[in-house]
Amino acid sequence: MRVRILLLIPASILTGLLLPIPTQAQSDAAKIFKTNCVLCHSADGSGDSPTGKAMHAKDLRSDEVQKQSDAALGEVITKGRGKMPAFGAKIKPDDVTKLVAYIRGLPPKK
Ligand code: HEC
Repeated sequence: MRVRILLLIPASILTGLLLPIPTQAQSDAAKIFKTNCVLCHSADGSGDSPTGKAMHAKDLRSDEVQKQSDAALGEVITKGRGKMPAFGAKIKPDDVTKLVAYIRGLPPKK
């Protein structure tokens, strides 16, 4: 009986620690996107903001963008391209990966 309780406690602690990680990653990416990207790409990724339109930011949900590989999208974020600023100095590679996943998960165009 004792042994069982001892085994159960660490298991519940572990689940408690592990479960929040996926949601955490998602909200991290959402936060980073909001802080750094929304100005040009809009909250929905459409790029419909005045700045986005002026800069010709493509709709991040479009096939044209989505058909590119994770590596290619990550590279644009890290090194920039055209009027897209480079974020490599500001955003960690880990977070760039999360941002790419976030872009993949944007709700589709209506
Ligand atoms: C100052 C405006 C601006 C900001 C801020 C900005 N972008 Fe961009 N982004 C652009 C423009 C303009 C392009 C199109 C670049 C080109 O191909 O000429 C682009 C392109 C991209 C692309 C490639 C899609 C394509 O055009 O093929 C990705 C991915 C991307 N941005 C993600 C992000 C992320 C993530 C952030 C925040 C960390 C961000 N951008 C912040 C303006 C911006």
